[in-house]
Amino acid sequence: MNLRFEPSAGLSGEVTAPADKSISHRAALLGAMASYPVRIENYLHAADTTATLQAVQALGALVEVRPSEVVVRGTGLRDAQEPDGPIDVGNAGTLLRLLPGWLAAQKGRSFTLDGDASIRRRPVDRIAEPLALMGAHLQATDGRFPPLTVRGAHLHSISYELPVASAQVKSCILLAALAADGATTVGEPVRSRDHTERMLLRAGVTIHRNGRHVTVVNADELVLERVVVPSDLSSAAFLIAAGVLVPGSRLLIRDVGVNWTRTGFLRILRRMRGIVLGGLEDESGELSPLEPVSDLDVAAGALEGTVVEPEEVPLAIDELPLVALLGCFAEGQTVVRGAQELRLKESDRIATVVEGLRGLGANIEATDDGFAVRGTGGLRGGVIEAHGDHRLAMMGAVAGLASREGVEVRGMEAAEVSYPGFVADLERLC
Ligand code: S3P
Repeated sequence: MNLRFEPSAGLSGEVTAPADKSISHRAALLGAMASYPVRIENYLHAADTTATLQAVQALGALVEVRPSEVVVRGTGLRDAQEPDGPIDVGNAGTLLRLLPGWLAAQKGRSFTLDGDASIRRRPVDRIAEPLALMGAHLQATDGRFPPLTVRGAHLHSISYELPVASAQVKSCILLAALAADGATTVGEPVRSRDHTERMLLRAGVTIHRNGRHVTVVNADELVLERVVVPSDLSSAAFLIAAGVLVPGSRLLIRDVGVNWTRTGFLRILRRMRGIVLGGLEDESGELSPLEPVSDLDVAAGALEGTVVEPEEVPLAIDELPLVALLGCFAEGQTVVRGAQELRLKESDRIATVVEGLRGLGANIEATDDGFAVRGTGGLRGGVIEAHGDHRLAMMGAVAGLASREGVEVRGMEAAEVSYPGFVADLERLC
């Protein structure tokens, strides 16, 4: 579907962004691993997280979708059933990387995960290596890409240093560790999102953080009665960017999840002099079972360029395309460093963002590990290809509202992966 986004007058009003995708995936998976029913309020009903509900059903969990909640009746930690055929993860990289952690502990049973064309270029060697060290057997195309087959085994605990900061890989190991013998420690080079750790703590698991290391002790069962999913900051970020860029805008975005490991974008935006109030609490250091929530008040204003350093990257990984867009409108240069992981997302987001924004008139260069944008006071507009990547499609739409001539987004349907009501929300706010 190709859609045009014309230059807009200021956006105004109140809006609630959709539920958090990362937390919804984890709630469905932990629900399937739990021994008693789990009620999930405000579950995200979008393509990626629907794939997770279907996957856990294929593994023997019962899922009931009610108007106000999703109820998952799990199989318990060690009793996932072998499905009839491959599990289809669709476009969901998080499902592809987290689910094998649980499956690795299903002794003597075998599972195959596959998905769409984009999933077949997402590396899985990053999870296969630690799971093999724990004792599972995994097979992937060229040792690296889906389809991925996991043969469950008795697992041993490990101490593992992640070569790259990835919440998906960390979470995969933590899920496997629940059914391993003993205590498992995972270290990450830079902190990444900690929703899995928080939810495990709530589910009664013994888990601690010490700096960049997390240790989890094996468990007999998970008991998690109720999860309330906050709105997704990564989806709200598109509304925030529109509110900051389109002159005259004033938006109130309700109930956004503002876990410190997700709010890197707000800190970057604040350095760029963007006007966003709320959601900027400091990190306490202690692992908390809660997911903090805040309203965000956004207003348009002039921006300055900034430099995003490697240690900030995992805290804003999915918002970096928007940092590039904001950089086009800011005074001076905006540089992102240490973000080579962007090349392994739903598209190669260094290439697709640079090519896409350049086509709209930006002065932007790709580097090996990020990009550099020279602000030119705005964007002309034109046509942008989404490459099947939800975040690129939504970035193109926001670029259109803030541009001089409007933007046609080719492949706008990609937004369904995380934000099905995105175009309707923009129309209402414009
Ligand atoms: C996610 C972690 C990030 C992020 C993805 C969701 C998660 O990936 O890009 O959209 O839910 O754990 P990595 O952990 O691989 O960087």
